[in-house]
Formats: sequence, C-alpha cells, structure tokens
Amino acid sequence: MRAPLPQGEQKARAVRSMFDGIARRYDLVNRIMTFGLDVWWRRKATRALKLAPGSLVFDLACGTGDFCRDLARAGMRAVGYDFSFGMLASARTTAPLVLADILSLPVPDGRADGITCGFALRNVVELKTLFAEMARVLRSGGRIALLEVSEPRSRLLRWGHGIYFNKIVPFIGGLLSDRAAYSYLPASVAYLPPRDELLDMLHAAGFPDARRVSLSGGVAQLLVGTRA
Ligand SMILES: C[S@@+](CC[C@H](N)C(=O)[O-])C[C@H]1O[C@@H](n2cnc3c(N)ncnc32)[C@H](O)[C@@H]1O
Repeated sequence: MRAPLPQGEQKARAVRSMFDGIARRYDLVNRIMTFGLDVWWRRKATRALKLAPGSLVFDLACGTGDFCRDLARAGMRAVGYDFSFGMLASARTTAPLVLADILSLPVPDGRADGITCGFALRNVVELKTLFAEMARVLRSGGRIALLEVSEPRSRLLRWGHGIYFNKIVPFIGGLLSDRAAYSYLPASVAYLPPRDELLDMLHAAGFPDARRVSLSGGVAQLLVGTRA
C-alpha cells in the first residue's frame, strides 16, 4: 500500500525538495516518458493563448523553462516563476526567471497578458488559491493555457495508461533519476479534482469561458480561458 500523500506545508516542502533532486535529468526523463509528446503539448498550449507577439506571459511553475522557450519563439515576452532553485538552475532559457511561490506572486494586479502553467496543478497546496492568483495578475481579456496530465475516458486506453503511468514511468524514472520521485508523480494525480470540478473552479475564479481540450487520447489535458 502507498503512503498517504502529504498535505499543506508538508506537501509544499516535499514537492520543492523532490524537484530540486530530479532537476538535472528532468528534461531527459520527460522526453523519454512522454515519447516527446510534452513538447507538442506545450506548443499547442502556446498557440491556444492566441496572443499577439510582444505580449507579456507569466509561465507559472516554469521548471526548466520549456514553456518560456516556446513563448519566446512565438515572439512573446515570457517570465518564469518557480519555487525550486534546482529546477531554475537547470533551466535553458533566456527569459527572466523568478524564485517564487506561485500561490503568492510578487507581481502587481492586472500585469500579465497571458499565463501558462505546465503539469503543476496537482503539485500546489491549494488549487483555488492558484486560480485566484492567476485571475489577480492577469489583465481583463488576458488568457490562460494550463497543461496537466489526465486519464483517458476509454476503458482500454485507461487500463494501458494505468500500467504505463504507475509501473513503467517509476521504472524508467528509477533507472535514469529517482524512483521515489517518479512513483510520486503518478500518485499525485489523486490531488486533481474531477474534470468538471476543475472547470467549475476556473469559471468561479473569473474565467467564465474556460474549457478543456483532451490531448493525445486523453493522457493530457489543456485548460484554456479568458479573464473576465
Ligand atoms: C512537473 S514540474 C513542471 C515544470 C514545467 N512547467 C514543465 O512543463 O515541464 C512542476 C514544477 O512546479 C513547481 N512548483 C510546484 N508547486 C509550486 C509552487 N507553489 N510555487 C512555485 N513552483 C511550484 C515545481 O518546483 C516544479 O518545477
């Protein structure tokens, strides 16, 4: 049986130290584990922002800066925020990076034109606080594009995906990086609310048109919306 997942401050500390520990090989394991699909998902999310070149986009939980690079390639001005020094130190981007908790951004209200966030929703202590913070720092009409893992709807795909995510990912992670961390990553999906609840939370936070796009047979999801 799995140990219970940490909550509150204990979760924040566990997440930060886990990412500090796996930072150096994070990109390599990501590419292998997703067969490179993560690259395609981030590019799709960047396009889904539908923002003009020059727009200021905050990439929350930027990790090693993959989204920042895509945003810069699309002509946008990216700023990355993450609380893991290890991840920021391993980042390969020329975007400014800020060591900060994304639940309390050191940014004035209404400053950003867009927000991206890749695979971090299940890592934060309070999703409601994160969505409220996104709404606070975005200007009216600003856009969000949030990526997260998901479970396929088809029973057969869900079965195959379950084996891959819960058994093979920790195995590959163990060979190349840290088995405990790559066992936590699939387990942490339990933190995610059901898909409809996730959308309801975004609507209530000030993104009335928020919608969900299923990616690659349902193994990932993209949440897009506009700040009212
Ligand atoms: C799975 S990684 C994703 C990195 C990157 N966004 C990507 O697409 O590859 C999750 C990141 O979220 C960061 N993170 C989690 N909770 C955070 C918080 N409260 N404040 C800042 N960063 C956080 C972690 O440090 C880690 O870098």
